[in-house]
Amino acid sequence: MCGIIAITTQSKKNVSKMITTGLKRLEYRGYDSVGIATINNGKIHTLKDKGTIEKVDNALNLEQLEGTIGIGHTRWATHGPPNRENAHPHGDCTGEITVVHNGIIENYLKLKQKLRESGHSFISETDTEVLAHLVEEELKHPELAPTVKEAFRRVISQIEGSYAITLIHAKEPETIFLARKDSPLVIGIQDDTKFAASDIPAFLEYTKKVIVLKDGEIATLTPKSVYIEKNGYRVQPKPFIVSWTAESAQKSGYPHFMLKEIHEQPIALRNTLTINSESVHSAVTKILEAERIIILACGTSYHAGLTGYHQFQRILNKKPVYPVIASEYDSYSHLIDNETAIIAVSQSGETLDVMKALSPAKKDGASIIAITNVVDSSIPRLSNIPLYTRAGPEIGVAATKTHTAQVALLARIALQLQHEIGTLDKSEFDSMLQILNEETPSITRKIIQQNEFKAKRLAERISSRKSAYFLARGPNLPIALEGALKIKEISYIHAEAFPAGESKHGPIAIVEPSFPIIMIAPNDATAKKLLNNAEEMKARGGYIISVTEKDHSIIQRSDSAFILPTSPLHLINPISYILPLQMLAYYAAVTRGVDPDKPKNLAKTVTVE
Ligand code: AGP
Repeated sequence: MCGIIAITTQSKKNVSKMITTGLKRLEYRGYDSVGIATINNGKIHTLKDKGTIEKVDNALNLEQLEGTIGIGHTRWATHGPPNRENAHPHGDCTGEITVVHNGIIENYLKLKQKLRESGHSFISETDTEVLAHLVEEELKHPELAPTVKEAFRRVISQIEGSYAITLIHAKEPETIFLARKDSPLVIGIQDDTKFAASDIPAFLEYTKKVIVLKDGEIATLTPKSVYIEKNGYRVQPKPFIVSWTAESAQKSGYPHFMLKEIHEQPIALRNTLTINSESVHSAVTKILEAERIIILACGTSYHAGLTGYHQFQRILNKKPVYPVIASEYDSYSHLIDNETAIIAVSQSGETLDVMKALSPAKKDGASIIAITNVVDSSIPRLSNIPLYTRAGPEIGVAATKTHTAQVALLARIALQLQHEIGTLDKSEFDSMLQILNEETPSITRKIIQQNEFKAKRLAERISSRKSAYFLARGPNLPIALEGALKIKEISYIHAEAFPAGESKHGPIAIVEPSFPIIMIAPNDATAKKLLNNAEEMKARGGYIISVTEKDHSIIQRSDSAFILPTSPLHLINPISYILPLQMLAYYAAVTRGVDPDKPKNLAKTVTVE
């Protein structure tokens, strides 16, 4: 939930500027407080406070800190409220050690109590601070911990929970100590400069050469070296070169990342659909071998999974498919055995609720297919078959391009499934695959271009309303759910999505003149009944906005309509129909003066339960 960066260098004079810039790239991970620490003249110097990086930097001038080694942190509070004391970095009693951390040290209260009994005093309410004191305590026993490295190792063996840790010690002014478990940490390599960060964009403008630290690994970085170990044995890392450009992690002239990412969807979809057939075939083989399928995810990824559920359960006939919200996994755990295939969908690949469900499922013998955007993140590493959406980095907290990429990948699997169970012969399959691969990006581009102005105008109209309904039926319900989530999380307009037939069982009671009702209305099997639901709402004065296609009678019942091209393949509809709703949410936020990239109370990657 927090962003970490650490740099050690021989060639760059002042790292605090680079750390501050890196933190700005990581701000999507958390933004309630910020801090950096460097070592200069054998002493630790720290600046930190509550607030966004911009605010704290303006107030404290973070770049004034001198030194060629430093660590930085942007926080999303878990233990203790956002304030200066709880902002990272955190130090020990001697002032020689400082640490930043992402994750949760589950046994920190016990460790803190023991440290207090040994005379340590604490400044913050965080779990993180125990780490600095634990290293200090270990170093009091040189017979057991003769070096900082050994003390760090010993501390890591005492802590429980999830963590990405970077620590520096004033007496070792070139070395960064790192450890990771269940929280991301990547290393960047440049001649005589080394970086560690929660995510690659933090150092992308300096280097593209990256090592992903794996669970249980401990590393030490100096300007000229990287040393990684696991369980006391040296690990030979495999660096790789990322294809992202520093530019692709920036806004490229758009006012917000969210709008940029909405516009990147045609290319994100094209890249995603270039997935090789063998990977899809391996996933399909697992699905066909299994007795039951669980589709597991949270939030927007769950909505993509729900779309997959509607497609798969039709294709798989009587084989049970269960869409499961990961935090509700316990209610389904009795279904899991070695005849179960789980499709875990997660943009970040680090969502703790998903990981917490996958670990026991794996022990119970389930096969895991992961659909993620972040290569080599925890969830694909837990899986048997990792499949990647190639949407590029998504910085806006609201998932847009990664959502449509997930839906596209699930549609690709759905086609392959139909082919392998024989409901599509080779020529039908080939022609549908060609349509999916070629038409999806171009339809997406067209819809975004043709509907942005209308989305803006309608957003201005609904932005003064307190609530909105998003209605759909059958396989279109996930689109309504996603549309409602987008508007809620970005513009703070309360929105509810439900099957349109449910209106009369309660929700219609609060409909009054001008109440916005967004209807997801492709010309499919749901069209006729949805029309009746539109009539019911219209009769109560509801302001009907339909997302539909030409020749659908709902257009006459609507106050306004997004009229989309008729899709050549029904599998493309869940991609097409969400696009106007993403733009509606974006412009509603902008009209209301809310920053769509940084919705309050939310973080991009949710690494707490
Ligand atoms: C969507 O806009 C949100 N950011 C959120 O619902 C998100 O989809 C959810 O937290 C799951 O994240 P994941 O895809 O990284 O697992």
